[in-house]
Amino acid sequence: MKSRLAQAKINLALHVTGKRDDGYHLLDTLVCFASPVSPHACDEVRMETAARDSFSISGPGAADLANTQGNLILDALEALRRRGHGVPPVRVELVKNLPVASGIGGGSADAAAALHLANELLPQPLDASALSEVAASLGADVPMCLHGQPLRATGIGEELTPVALPQLHMVLVNPRQAVSTPTVFKALNTVHHAPMAPLPSACDNWTSWLAGQRNDLQEAAMGLCPPIGHVLDALNATPHLELARMSGSGATCFGLYPSAADARRAADALATAHPDWWSVALQTEPSPGAL
Ligand code: C5P
Repeated sequence: MKSRLAQAKINLALHVTGKRDDGYHLLDTLVCFASPVSPHACDEVRMETAARDSFSISGPGAADLANTQGNLILDALEALRRRGHGVPPVRVELVKNLPVASGIGGGSADAAAALHLANELLPQPLDASALSEVAASLGADVPMCLHGQPLRATGIGEELTPVALPQLHMVLVNPRQAVSTPTVFKALNTVHHAPMAPLPSACDNWTSWLAGQRNDLQEAAMGLCPPIGHVLDALNATPHLELARMSGSGATCFGLYPSAADARRAADALATAHPDWWSVALQTEPSPGAL
């Protein structure tokens, strides 16, 4: 059975710069992804050809998906088949580690991993741009998740530019409360914020640049889900924290630390103090060639 990690997506900054007529918001966002060396910050999708289609979910987050209808992985297979790409019957297994509806793109990353795996089974695999087009039909975040490397995303999240970002040492914390992305967008007071400041060159201090950027969804999400504020307070109280911010539409927040050891100690302390929260230390995937 072939397997692929579906890496958590972290919005290091997320600026809302406008709104399209169809209701989707224009974004300027810097994203990075959990490195495969941190598999606990990734879901896993497994796929093999079979006599008929089947889909099963296991892992610590499986129970959260038990009551949801459908799954973006099945939508991904259906999208390929509808376009005439002959995906054979497949057995698919999802190992769900990431909290659902949590601002770190779990469902989108699962769909992206399924697209990669299904593409490998096609007699004529799609090229990167055709696969990205199918991904965009599944959700605004799915194309970026196909890449799994640091990107700046504009448009509604589908216009992607690689960014030279080093590996970051990070803690992700989720208070285990699902947050609805459309509800957060609807709660915004204004949708006309400035885009991100010009990106620094690869050798500059990313943390100080990031400190000058924002997540424009954070305030609205905190209004709808006050525990986000508690998570940020708890991250801010950990030793050596460089920056704490919410990712995506929440409720997951990230903390940046100068070393893997600092991040691990912070995650351990948070897990002890808040056993009901999801807290993990991870490394992010650096840009190709970056340190
Ligand atoms: O594309 P996706 O299905 O992931 O988006 C979920 C919802 O989030 C959309 O229906 C929309 O309400 C909101 N959204 C938005 N602007 C974006 C991305 C998502 O308004 N750029």
